[in-house]
Parts: sequence; C-alpha cells; structure tokens
Amino acid sequence: MAAGEEKRVRRKSTTAKPVLAEQKPEGDATGAIMRPRRLQDFIGQEQLRRNLTVFIDAALSRKEPLDHCLLYGPPGLGKTTLSQIIAAELGVRFKYTSGPALTRAGDLASILASLRDRDVLFIDEIHRLPAAVEEGLYSAMEDFQLPIILGKGPSAKTLTIQLKPFTLIGATTRFGMLSAPLRDRFGIVMRLDPYNEDDLAIIITNAAVRLETNVEPAAARRIAARSRGIPRIALRNLKRIRDYMAYAGASLVDVKLVDRAFSHLNIDQYGLLDIDRRLLEAIDEKFRGGPVGLDSLASAISEDPETVSVVIEPYLVQLNFIARTSQGRIITDLGRRYLKSHDSGGAGSDEALF
Ligand SMILES: Nc1ncnc2c1ncn2[C@@H]1O[C@H](COP(=O)(O)OP(=O)(O)OP(=O)(O)O)[C@@H](O)[C@H]1O
Ligand SMILES: [Mg+2]
Repeated sequence: MAAGEEKRVRRKSTTAKPVLAEQKPEGDATGAIMRPRRLQDFIGQEQLRRNLTVFIDAALSRKEPLDHCLLYGPPGLGKTTLSQIIAAELGVRFKYTSGPALTRAGDLASILASLRDRDVLFIDEIHRLPAAVEEGLYSAMEDFQLPIILGKGPSAKTLTIQLKPFTLIGATTRFGMLSAPLRDRFGIVMRLDPYNEDDLAIIITNAAVRLETNVEPAAARRIAARSRGIPRIALRNLKRIRDYMAYAGASLVDVKLVDRAFSHLNIDQYGLLDIDRRLLEAIDEKFRGGPVGLDSLASAISEDPETVSVVIEPYLVQLNFIARTSQGRIITDLGRRYLKSHDSGGAGSDEALF
C-alpha cells in the first residue's frame, strides 16, 4: 500500500494470468537488490526470528513440511520478504499468488496440484480470498487433499486428489478480516511489529552497502528516525536521498544532506508527510477535534478508508497525536501542539540549498 510502484505491479498481476509466480514481482531493480535472502540478514523481530529458527530446524530434521504460517502486520514490515526467506531456509520452491488473483476454485486447484513435496505456497492478501476458493483450502491445509466435484445435480461425483505435503504461508494486513476456520488452520501465527530505530538503521546501512552508497552512521540513524518504523519507507527514503546525493555531486550521505533531502521531500522530523498533517488538520478544524468516524474522516481528506486506517492512522496513534475511541478518532493535545509548531515553521522548515 505504501510503495506505489510495488502495488501497481501487484495490481496488474491480479488481473493478468498466470496467477502463480516463482517470485514475488519486485517494484524495481534496486528493490530486488535490497531484499534480504536469508534469515541471518533479516534484521529485528528477534522473538519471531528465534521461534522461526526452531520451527524450521525441527521441520528440516524431521524431513517434514513446515506447518502452515500466517504472517500479519502493517504494510512494508517484511511479510513477503520473510516468506521468501522461509522457503530459502527450507531449501524448497517459493510459489507466489494473492487472494484477489484467485478468482475461481479451479485456479487454486491447479496451483495446489502443481506443488512439489514441501514447497512453500505464498498467498498474499489472504483476507481477500473469495469464499468459494477459501473453502477449497480447508481440506488441502488439513489433510493435503483436494475434493473435486465432477458434474452437476444428483449425478455429481466427488473425486479426491491427494496433494504433496506443502506449507501454506498467508500474509495479511487485516488479521481481523480472516474467517475463524481459516485462521484456525494455521499452526504458526506471527505478528510483525514496527521496527525500532536501531534495527532500521542497520537495515538502511546494509541496503546502502548493497547499493554501493556511502552513508555515515549518524545519517543512517537520521533516516531511520524519520521512517515510521517501517523498512519499506526507510529504503524508499534511502533511495531518494541517494538521488539527492548524486544531484548534489556528493560522494557521501551525511546528516546535512539527509536533512536537506527530507526538507525537499516535505518529510518532517517525525517522518510525517502532508497527508498526515491534512488528516490532523481535518480532525482539528473540520471536526472540531473529533470524535469523527473513519468514513467521514477519509472523505474529508479524499482518501479511501482502508488507506487511512491501515497506512496513515497507526503511526499517528503510535506518536500519540490522535486516539481511537469508541465514538471515533480524536486529536490529542500533543497532536494539536505538533500542528501549531509545524504551522510556525518549527517542524521540518524548508531550506533551499539544492
Ligand atoms: N527485517 C528486515 N530486514 C531487512 N529488510 C527488510 C526487513 N523487512 C522488510 N525489509 C525490506 O522492506 C521492504 C518491504 O518488505 P515486504 O515487501 O516484505 O513487506 P510486506 O510486509 O510484505 O508489505 P505488504 O503488506 O505491503 O505486502 C522489502 O524491500 C524488504 O527488502
Ligand atoms: Mg508483501
């Protein structure tokens, strides 16, 4: 949702055939370079990583497929990346598809039938699986069996296809939208949380090495501090700052360059963008501080409600600039203070240095 390019590619893949791919479509070439390939390069999420190591080792030693995994959390935290890593650590093939791409039960059946022993089948946006397709998954997940109904009416027959044991990895940003029967069929359920600044700084530093870009440690931290705890945003910021570095004819990304670039990108010291400020202003002015419902708020800033609740709001809640109450969203005193300081040029004021 956050990375425009990546989403555009994915949307295209939901309408075009084939619905199955060997790799997740990458937004661009640098995206592929920066994506970690093994668990040891996957930074942060310590507890999740420790647990996963245990489960992967156990599956490998028993020569069994890993239990089905459900990964959930906000966009850009590494669900797809981690899934590819799991397949690599297991030494099996990674097959990518997504909920909206599987429109008919037959789509799923042919994918399942094509899986080899212990393959990883990754279903992105699994909360968007059509109900008929989802039901077909149940027995495949439980018994590795696929019932196929031949014919119609009283003469219809059911044929059961035995599948190869496989691992389903489902990813979702909307855990609550998953049906209970589907949720219950995952043996491993893991939540990814926003990253702290230390971890983001390491992710930025590692990516900079792969991009052959010189980034000072303090500059990496500065980028991390303005990336909302999200690796995708951190990497996007790094790429844009790298553009500014080239434009300025510099050979090193230092704090000064980072600050100038952020100022031009209109990203302030909290990592907030115009759209975040528009949302705060809407609650503060249009709705007199709130409470305001999600739909009214989204239409006031011309965004769709899902983007507001999944992409924009969580970080404003984390900063304690807004609060979600049972009556709706309200702006906090801290949020009001932020708006005031921003209006007076305190936060993220512009420097015309490029
Ligand atoms: N822990 C990590 N260490 C290093 N890089 C990471 C980590 N997590 C994510 N990334 C990087 O961040 C980017 C976004 O990750 P990814 O695409 O896996 O997120 P996602 O959770 O699948 O997002 P979405 O919900 O939008 O599909 C990737 O380019 C990946 O390289
Ligand atoms: Mg993903």
